[in-house]
Amino acid sequence: MQILTNHEGPVLRLQINRPEKKNALTLAMYEQMTSALEAADRDPTVRVVLIHGQPDSFSSGNDLQDFAQSPPTGGDSPVGRFIAAISRASKPLVAAVAGPAVGIGTTMLLHCDAVYAAENTRFQLPFVNLALLPEAGSSLLLPMQIGYLRAAELLMLGEPFSAAKALQYGLVTEVCADGPTALTAAQAVAAKLSAKPPAALHVIKMLLKQPHAAQLAAQVGDETRHFVEQLQSPEAAEAFKAFFEKRAPDFTQFA
Ligand code: COA
Repeated sequence: MQILTNHEGPVLRLQINRPEKKNALTLAMYEQMTSALEAADRDPTVRVVLIHGQPDSFSSGNDLQDFAQSPPTGGDSPVGRFIAAISRASKPLVAAVAGPAVGIGTTMLLHCDAVYAAENTRFQLPFVNLALLPEAGSSLLLPMQIGYLRAAELLMLGEPFSAAKALQYGLVTEVCADGPTALTAAQAVAAKLSAKPPAALHVIKMLLKQPHAAQLAAQVGDETRHFVEQLQSPEAAEAFKAFFEKRAPDFTQFA
C-alpha cells in the first residue's frame, strides 16, 4: 500500500508511503487519497485528517512517468478528483512535511488548516521548469496567501526554497527540528482540534473558505484546461525528455 490509512481515535492519518520514489504520486495513489478524504468527510468518527510522509520525504509531486504515460485529461482525472476532494474537505486538515515537498506536494498544503515543516523540507513549485502550469488552485490561493510578488517568484522561477522561507512567506504554521518533530507537532494539534466542538469547527472552516469558494472552483477549472493543453506542447515534451535523460532542458528553440 502506497497510501497508508490509520484511524487513530478521532484522527485519520494518511501516510504517503513510496519513499523509494520520494513519495511521487501515481494515479492509484491519488485515487486512494481521494477515497480516504471523501470517506473521512462522511464518517462522523473522523474529526481531523492528518497527512504526512516520512521524516525525509513528503512528496516529490506527480509521478512524472505516470504523467507522461497517462496525462490528465480534465477535472475527472485522478489528480482532478483529488484536488476537488482536498479543496472541499469540510474537516480540519493538518499536514506534517519534510524533505521534498514538490509540485502538488506544496500546492496541496494550500488546502490545509495547519502545516508543520521539518527544517529539512525543500519546497518547490517547479511547474515552469517542466513547461507546465500551476494546479490545485495555487494560481489563486498562493497570491492570496503570500502576496503577488512572492507567488510570482515561486511560480515563475520554480526554484526550491527552505522551510524558513516558507515560514517567512506564510506557507507553513511552524518549522520544527528534523526527525519526527513535525509529525509530533501535527499530531498534537490534530488531537487539540479533535477535542473541539465539531459543528462549530465545521462552520468556522466553511466561513473561512466560503468567500472564495466559487472563484477557487472556477480557477481550478481554468488551470486544468490550460494544463491539459500545455502538457501536449513541444516545450513540455522537451522538459519531460530532459528529466528522463537526466539533463537540463533546452527551451531556446521555442518562440
Ligand atoms: N516522478 C517520478 N519519479 C520520481 C519523481 C517524480 N516526481 N521524483 C523522484 N523520482 C524518482 C527518481 O527518478 C529516482 O528514481 P530512481 O532511483 O529509479 O532513479 C528516485 O525517485 C529518487 O529520486 P532522486 O532524484 O534520486 O532523489 P533526490 O533526493 O536526489 O531528489 C527530488 C529528490 C524530489 C528533488 C528530485 O527527485 C526531483 O526533482 N524530482 C522531480 C520533481 C518534480 O518535478 N515533480 C513534478 C512536479 S509537477
